[in-house]
Amino acid sequence: MSDPVVVTDEGGVRIVRMNRPEKKNALTAAMYAAMTQALREADTSDAIRCVMIAGAPGAFCAGNDIGDFLAAAMGGGLDTHATDFLRALAQGRTPLVAAVGGAAIGIGTTMLFHCDHVVAAADATLSTPFLKLALIPEAASTLLAPQRMGHARAFSLLAMGRPLTAAEAKDAGIVNTVVEPGALDAAALQAAQEIAALPPGALATTRELMRGNTDEVTARIDAEVAHFAKLLQSDEARAAFQAFMARKK
Ligand code: COA
Repeated sequence: MSDPVVVTDEGGVRIVRMNRPEKKNALTAAMYAAMTQALREADTSDAIRCVMIAGAPGAFCAGNDIGDFLAAAMGGGLDTHATDFLRALAQGRTPLVAAVGGAAIGIGTTMLFHCDHVVAAADATLSTPFLKLALIPEAASTLLAPQRMGHARAFSLLAMGRPLTAAEAKDAGIVNTVVEPGALDAAALQAAQEIAALPPGALATTRELMRGNTDEVTARIDAEVAHFAKLLQSDEARAAFQAFMARKK
């Protein structure tokens, strides 16, 4: 079986590729752990100057594995793997580029608020159907999305669960460039290489100043997770997970 997250280094760019295409890159605990490790290692390496997060053609990431949500709701409880990953995103010092094609759902969209540069394929769709699962948005998106796109657009995305096309996401300031699906990886890698070639000291300082104090972001991640963990145990959420897992296609 192939690794569900594949990490490769190309020059100064570390590519972290979610690789569970048969499940549309729904994230498992093991995948979060692998991605967290890849990010944390990049932060301690002088050779790695940029991380590019990528998925599979047509599936960037379908969000957290709903089977895992169900197991957590049935008594397993929420483990810390997703939160560790979110903290690594929020606190990391390595610039982050994302290459987003196809479905970017739940954390597949909210992780983008932590990225410095996002390239999307024209077929990308961003959505956060948390409330449809009787959950709340995470990844500090309740803080970062309104800052990025204004309350009205953030509410439509986060609370109402209305999806954004790649073009709409660009208009909302989440995506930098929209390219044809076949050109996605090359375009994102080019951007990552461009960032990796910048003077590291000046880049680190610029990024740090632009991101400001990340404590508020980390605190929001933790606050959201506390609500999320409680809501996960509700009858409504459990029923929504069961309905997804039992759906007929
Ligand atoms: N958790 C667990 N499994 C998932 C998943 C998820 N988040 N997303 C997709 N899968 C699985 C499907 O169950 C299916 O598995 P199967 O082949 O064993 O039945 C496989 O991935 C392919 O998905 P499928 O639904 O057949 O593909 P599609 O192209 O018709 O739709 C999605 C793709 C991503 C739009 C759809 O699967 C979906 O809506 N997934 C749930 C997204 C979600 O709500 N995530 C949580 C956000 S908080």
